[in-house]
Amino acid sequence: MRLIYMAGKGGVGKSVCSAATGLWSSQQGNKTLAFSMDPAHSLSDILDVEIGDRPRKIAENFDAVEPDLAAEAEKFYGSYRSLFRALFEMFQFEVRPADFGVVPGVGELIFMDRLYDVYMEGNYEVVVIDSAPTALVLPLLKLPDVTTGVVTRLLGMKSRWTGIFNMLEPGFGDSIVTEVRRLRTKAETMRNALIDPEITTISVVTIPEKAAVLESERLIETVEAHEVTVDSIIVNHVMAPCDCDYCRRRAASQRGYIDEIKAKFADKRIALLPSYGEEVTGEGLSQVSRDLYEEGQLSL
Ligand SMILES: Nc1ncnc2c1ncn2[C@@H]1O[C@H](COP(=O)(O)OP(=O)(O)O)[C@@H](O)[C@H]1O
Ligand SMILES: [Mg+2]
Repeated sequence: MRLIYMAGKGGVGKSVCSAATGLWSSQQGNKTLAFSMDPAHSLSDILDVEIGDRPRKIAENFDAVEPDLAAEAEKFYGSYRSLFRALFEMFQFEVRPADFGVVPGVGELIFMDRLYDVYMEGNYEVVVIDSAPTALVLPLLKLPDVTTGVVTRLLGMKSRWTGIFNMLEPGFGDSIVTEVRRLRTKAETMRNALIDPEITTISVVTIPEKAAVLESERLIETVEAHEVTVDSIIVNHVMAPCDCDYCRRRAASQRGYIDEIKAKFADKRIALLPSYGEEVTGEGLSQVSRDLYEEGQLSL
């Protein structure tokens, strides 16, 4: 199975690029899933179908899924019941299971658990991950450390803690340990998949404007500090040539940022996408997939 991960800040076109990549991949004959990791799902709008919690067929070879964060949070809570009970009781932290997905980083952890299931089931050849905005890619890479480090230290794989919890209720401490191990195994499996360039391709989507370019540069540096290689950068919303003064000035500014990206990331593929002048849906999406892949700007 190949994973294609679309990262970048909000509103730059990650979902459009994910949907277009999924479409292209399916048209090349790969059994493909577009998996939305952003709680603010937008694949339904872009693909123009209600998708929902179970993979829904979009076209031949092409499914999409938008797991519901609240529902996933409850399932997640259910499968790590002892662990959360211990954490919540220790810190007297009260939260409804359906709500705790909004705790920063926890949403990723929950979606990662679901992605793990997709990964292990192995029903797809290509899974395109439409991620939540920028910074949240990080908890995902740090997951194994978080689960092994913090949780392990707090609750103790150490027998002393296990013993105390077992005294509170027979078997409680042991089931915490079992759950921490399970969470760690899943987190490690996904981290290993994400850092393996044979399995995962990471694309960063950006737009040719100062703040977006700076943020993308930071994102790439941070991700690569975690041994994960960013394969390509998609520069979206590149203006079409126009002779008016306003457009010429904007186009010159865009060119400056595009040149900067090309110079700074000479080792990566840089793909340019035009501004289409209207929201991308339906036929527009096929155009995006051709613009990205047909002339070889990107390859799967
Ligand atoms: N190249 C483009 N030309 C015109 N509209 C675009 C383009 N790329 C994205 N859009 C529109 O911009 C909005 C945000 O895109 P989206 O893919 O949802 O961003 P993200 O997932 O990064 O938040 C959507 O309405 C989409 O249709
Ligand atoms: Mg999106």
